[in-house]
Amino acid sequence: MTTHSPGLFIAFEGGDGAGKSTQAALLAEALETLGHAVLRTREPGGTPIGEKLRSLVLDHGHGNIDARTEALMFAASRAAHANQVIRPALERGEVVITDRYIDSSVAYQGAGRDLGTHAVRTLNEWATAGLQPDLTVLLDVEPEDGRDRRTAGEAAEDRLESEPDQFHARIRDAFLDLATTHADSYLVLPANLEIEELAAKILDRVSELLERR
Ligand code: TYD
Repeated sequence: MTTHSPGLFIAFEGGDGAGKSTQAALLAEALETLGHAVLRTREPGGTPIGEKLRSLVLDHGHGNIDARTEALMFAASRAAHANQVIRPALERGEVVITDRYIDSSVAYQGAGRDLGTHAVRTLNEWATAGLQPDLTVLLDVEPEDGRDRRTAGEAAEDRLESEPDQFHARIRDAFLDLATTHADSYLVLPANLEIEELAAKILDRVSELLERR
């Protein structure tokens, strides 16, 4: 189910170190220049309660968090985000660009933590009352590349990022499966293309969707 609202809902997905934030920012900038009202947001987070959940679930130092608790924390953050922020913005006719959405939970908790992709999707469809993106942009990154790109930056790895490469390989496979199953609403691009080339391809696809609205 897509949004069927006046706005357009775009999610960026991909492994850690794929460059989603850079591309989300470039897309937002390009659309604003074209005169669109854009809301750029992220998960976990996007609301005050979501940002608190973000630090609880991502920071080291809160002790062991079992997989089901982790999945529920991401889903709780997403419920607030979808219901309090994303849906109202779509109803106002804005373009919403989120850095991660449901498919991150399907890939990380469903496949990475082995909770089952079906169970995690069902939980999140309930949490968001069925709100789905019109387009998901998957920046596909190999786990080793992702690690190199992350560790080249200044920031320390969070609780999920610091999992071993096999964990990230399961996540990558899950994202590629999702893209195959939902081919009409996915744009898959190799994360190692030049930044400008990626940005142009993403803008092309989003412009088509905006014209059809
Ligand atoms: P992200 O915000 O992309 O990381 P960064 O701080 O580098 O911008 O995502 C934070 C981490 O949370 C990332 O490792 C993926 C993980 N995650 C899940 O495991 N499940 C989810 O549902 C979401 C949204 C993120």
